[in-house]
Amino acid sequence: MSEPRQILVTSALPYANGSIHLGHMLEYIQTDMWVRFQKLRGNQCIYVCADDAHGSAIMLRAEKEGITPEQLIANVQAEHSSDFADFLVDFDNFHSTHSDENRELSELIYTRLRDAGHIATRSVTQYFDPEKGMFLADRFIKGTCPKCAAEDQYGDNCEKCGATYAPTELKNPKSAISGATPVLRDSQHFFFKLPDFQAMLQQWTRSGTLQDAVANKLAEWLDAGLQEWDISRDAPYFGFEIPGEPGKYFYVWLDAPIGYMASFKNLCARRPELDFDAFWNEGSKAELYHFIGKDIVNFHALFWPAMLEGAGLRKPTAVNVHGYLTVNGAKMSKSRGTFIKARTYLDHLQPEYLRYYYAAKLGRGVDDLDLNLEDFVQKVNSDLVGKVVNIASRCAGFIHKGNAGVMVAGDAAPELTEAFLAAAPLIAEAYEGRDFGRAMREIMALADRANAWIADKAPWSLAKQEGKQEEVQAICAQGINLFRQLVIFLKPVLPLLAADAEAFLNVAPLTWNDHQSRLENHQLNPFKALMSRIEPAKIEAMIAASKEDLLAAETQAPVGNGELAKDPLSAEIEFDTFAAVDLRVALIVKAQAVPGADKLLQLTLDIGDEQRNVLSGIKSAYPDPSQLEGRLTMMVANLKPRKMRFGVSEGMVMAAGPGGEEIYLLSPDSGAKPGQRIK
Ligand code: 2FM
Ligand code: ZN
Repeated sequence: MSEPRQILVTSALPYANGSIHLGHMLEYIQTDMWVRFQKLRGNQCIYVCADDAHGSAIMLRAEKEGITPEQLIANVQAEHSSDFADFLVDFDNFHSTHSDENRELSELIYTRLRDAGHIATRSVTQYFDPEKGMFLADRFIKGTCPKCAAEDQYGDNCEKCGATYAPTELKNPKSAISGATPVLRDSQHFFFKLPDFQAMLQQWTRSGTLQDAVANKLAEWLDAGLQEWDISRDAPYFGFEIPGEPGKYFYVWLDAPIGYMASFKNLCARRPELDFDAFWNEGSKAELYHFIGKDIVNFHALFWPAMLEGAGLRKPTAVNVHGYLTVNGAKMSKSRGTFIKARTYLDHLQPEYLRYYYAAKLGRGVDDLDLNLEDFVQKVNSDLVGKVVNIASRCAGFIHKGNAGVMVAGDAAPELTEAFLAAAPLIAEAYEGRDFGRAMREIMALADRANAWIADKAPWSLAKQEGKQEEVQAICAQGINLFRQLVIFLKPVLPLLAADAEAFLNVAPLTWNDHQSRLENHQLNPFKALMSRIEPAKIEAMIAASKEDLLAAETQAPVGNGELAKDPLSAEIEFDTFAAVDLRVALIVKAQAVPGADKLLQLTLDIGDEQRNVLSGIKSAYPDPSQLEGRLTMMVANLKPRKMRFGVSEGMVMAAGPGGEEIYLLSPDSGAKPGQRIK
């Protein structure tokens, strides 16, 4: 028996300012399956992650919500943690980059790099927002494309003609934060001298640490010569101040990967058997794997190993890169309802359906993975329900009826037993190499053989014949033994199904090596359905709910029409703009739920000379819509009608509050009449 391996595994740290969606889940599910496989094999495998909590986007979002960044990241961390847990992603630790451990480690790594001469400083000229008092990252500057004159383009590239340029080339630049015209200003920046590590990286990227396609891509950058990397940002910034440099902060991407170490360090404090240094010091025997998407390869396969090397720490054993998720063959789309949040999925479907589908389609490469929703239903129903669970449900009843739930001894199909044993190392090899698709194909081929054998033996016919009871019991015990082996092979992908199967089989949690043994003279527990089919209606409902998520986001957006997102509370408007809004007293004549929509109410409003149909996202606050009937409220009557999925909305009612159950419809004093203008 070889020594158990020590393995530390990470997934990319999600930003602490947005919800997790099914694109993110591709990575977390993939990593979790790999980690569960390692644990099942008896290795010491630790899976850590954290929220990526720093940067100006998070600072500005908190400001917009009127809360502190700390509050924002705490709220988001709670949401992320429950999304992951409900998708059965079992982190050993989920921490935050805004933590004491991360501050300490970031300072340590930075000072080691600085003291070794790997940090340079020089002045940088950048756009500065004079109203907001901050330097503007490219994505916070908008203006007219210098190449094609398209308006409203970001500071570094034009979405219309694809041109890339420096923000200073944009015509008529504006701060996307305040709308002010930015001015150029100088400031001292700190740079990590990446070129110092050129030779090391040239060797490291070709030493089996990366997939070939990734190493080839990096070779292009390496051959072109590496640039120094700007690792500082000026105040105001939400992050860690650089030691000895007041007003200068580490750029979020400097401390983000250090967050992997910080999360592990935080775990070490709770798990005394884990030795932080043994995992991270140069020459460590432990293995270290990062799972990431292809968009952040440069951070993980260039900057990060160089930082580790420069700070005298170990480098990753491998960086495992995956492609993007598409849904129904296209980029996830909010308007098509295929931009599906983790929670929206979970509201309608079981996590293991998606885990299995991803597993079935994941290979070792960096190709994009398509979640085709029709294929998803078909594959899950046919493989998991039709093949795997079917074996147990076909056999269990006969054992309970004919032998009081006791599996008889003996091997009724030695050739199948042999085939299952022979397949195990191939399945393990596929898991180890992250070729989950191959593992699933091997497993389903075994399930097909087991089903064919049972169908051929037809215990249901034998059970009706005199004197065949012994044969029936032998067949069904064999069927359950084969089912048990399939459950072991699928356990990294389907941990809940495995737990339910263990309860039915009346066995302790199964490990990988258990596939070599069989149950004989063994008492089973009553059989309960282990998995139900996906009903296509659930998919429709999930798509409809995703469209509603978009609607809710639109309702919350301060400014539409592609305008610069000005804070509506601070932006001043001319009197004429205000006077152009036709505000009216409206009588709610009828209020009803909209079939298929979770958040919308349909209101029929009387505004004196006419009736209007308005769709409003206030259902959570008014679950019994009839309570609104007969009540007066205020509406914007000259809003351009909007075509929505559930019909045309001819105006907007006015309400206050943050949303959800906390929405308060505004009402005039009594005596107001429907149709009166509000002045
Ligand atoms: O791209 C992203 O979503 C980043 N938040 C990933 C960070 S991974 C690690 F380096 F922290
Ligand atoms: Zn352009």
